[in-house]
Amino acid sequence: MAITALGYLGVRSDTLDDWSGFAGKLLGMQQVDRGGKTLAFRMDDRKQRLVVAQEPGNSLAFMGWEVAAKSDLESFAARLENAGIKVTWGGRELADQRFVEALIVFEDPDGNRIELAWNPMTDSDPFTPGRPISGFMTGPLGLGHAVLHVRDAQALLPFYRDLLGFGVSDYGLTPYPLYFFHVNGRHHSFAMLGSSQAGFHHFMVEYKNLDDVGQGYDLAQLEEGRVAFTLGRHTNDYMTSFYAASPSGFFVENGWGGRIIDPESWEAHETFDGPSFWGHERLCLPEKTRTRLREMRLDAAARGLRTPPMIDCPWLYSEITCE
Ligand SMILES: [Fe+2]
Repeated sequence: MAITALGYLGVRSDTLDDWSGFAGKLLGMQQVDRGGKTLAFRMDDRKQRLVVAQEPGNSLAFMGWEVAAKSDLESFAARLENAGIKVTWGGRELADQRFVEALIVFEDPDGNRIELAWNPMTDSDPFTPGRPISGFMTGPLGLGHAVLHVRDAQALLPFYRDLLGFGVSDYGLTPYPLYFFHVNGRHHSFAMLGSSQAGFHHFMVEYKNLDDVGQGYDLAQLEEGRVAFTLGRHTNDYMTSFYAASPSGFFVENGWGGRIIDPESWEAHETFDGPSFWGHERLCLPEKTRTRLREMRLDAAARGLRTPPMIDCPWLYSEITCE
């Protein structure tokens, strides 16, 4: 039994109109009419990938993780309950809202709502993006990744690694603790940022074409305060990306070129190079932290660190995009 992908995300917002423009026009998702106080968005052939509910809080509402078989839901429920975690089976109504066949619901030790879902539904209508993009890298790699602020990353490690079975990709301890986890070939589908606070830091969507990121970057720069991290490239997952401030305050990373790993042979390790080879200037952080991060990437650059050329292998991409 294993979790295979990040399937869907739900967030709370009291500014649905802003989310409509942000997710549709900037991110390029397809808005789907659900009526009432909920927005839903498609990113591919799935019925929905992102749900925005008009609820107070401006935060993560739920993370939906996929399992391969219905029996996995039963196995996970038993394992979690053994560990003292309360698990609820989602009823027909909730399963219909999520467009999955069955799901279980529980919380992580910080109170983040987690759903494990089986058999998500696809739509017979083709995906129509909200702006002209080539599409998102999803399929077996899932929606993208989700990153939480946590009070104590070490304390949450046993829950995600040992109970949910997430594989540790790597971790860095300076200038703050960051733990990255994989559930498939995507370098990380989940990460924890030990920032001594609880909340949602960002989620990432990956575009098939770098120009889709660049054209989004142009659009984001037209709006005051929309760009939260400037364009840059990460050292561990090789993602070229910028971070946009969402209408709910947390960020959405717009990425391209992420690293594919082999989970079978991958070994967890500590990293020392800081988060980025270049760029990703965090415009919202205090000057002291920005300076530290800038020093780390200037040092990485002076040592000649860069993405290895294998990331540009077209054969690999054709294998993983299933086209
Ligand atoms: Fe990220």
